[in-house]
Amino acid sequence: MIEIENLRKEYRRGAETVVACSVRALHIERGEQVALIGRSGCGKTTLLNMIAGIVRPSRGALRVAGTDLARLGEGRRDRFRGRHIGMVFQTFNLLQPFSALENVLLGAQFAGHDRAAARDRAHDLLQRVGLGERLHHRPNELSVGQMQRVAICRALINDPELILADEPLGNQDQATGGEVLQMLLGIAREEERTVVMVTHDLDSAALMQRTLDLEHLKEVA
Ligand SMILES: Nc1ncnc2c1ncn2[C@@H]1O[C@H](COP(=O)(O)OP(=O)(O)OP(=O)(O)O)[C@@H](O)[C@H]1O
Ligand SMILES: [Mg+2]
Repeated sequence: MIEIENLRKEYRRGAETVVACSVRALHIERGEQVALIGRSGCGKTTLLNMIAGIVRPSRGALRVAGTDLARLGEGRRDRFRGRHIGMVFQTFNLLQPFSALENVLLGAQFAGHDRAAARDRAHDLLQRVGLGERLHHRPNELSVGQMQRVAICRALINDPELILADEPLGNQDQATGGEVLQMLLGIAREEERTVVMVTHDLDSAALMQRTLDLEHLKEVA
């Protein structure tokens, strides 16, 4: 599902070059559930953003679901993402004027699903993460952990084959976090979905099939 060789993202700031992410080799099979760890600033979010086609690599090879993302232009990368990937951002990116339900449904807007079916699935997902009583609340009327759960539902609404989640449980208490992760992994296993999840929590990582430490994947430059 994901094949990476000598991938690197650099940012130039004047004369200085910042290496935001560097990975020598990484292969993730379809249906695998992988935890991604590594200290703050080591490039976890940058790596997810490259895999999602949001950030373009500076160099290296990156194939996702058989597509060479390093070569695609922006428009085609956006379409690719809409079709294959569900993303939970570290900062949630919920839209303030919309309710929880509407935020989840926004994820379905461009995928061409039947509106009623999307609504049913959004309801079901929000119910499963314990937000059945909060369907019509806006983000500023939700707790941070609740917003995070809405963001997880949005990522799952199109039943994506690849789920990329950036610390999706960072603001959950242990019991809720455990339940939400079980739900996410349960859905992924039923439908043979691939999951890559950034986490600092080793108990969560232990529920995944494999844990990758990004600091040990670095390219030997
Ligand atoms: N647009 C940018 N311009 C310059 N440097 C950047 C940019 N984006 C990220 N970086 C740098 O790249 C490095 C990796 O950032 P990234 O957000 O991927 O880290 P992370 O592993 O997700 O950290 P955290 O655990 O804190 O979320 C950081 O040192 C950061 O300062
Ligand atoms: Mg990050």
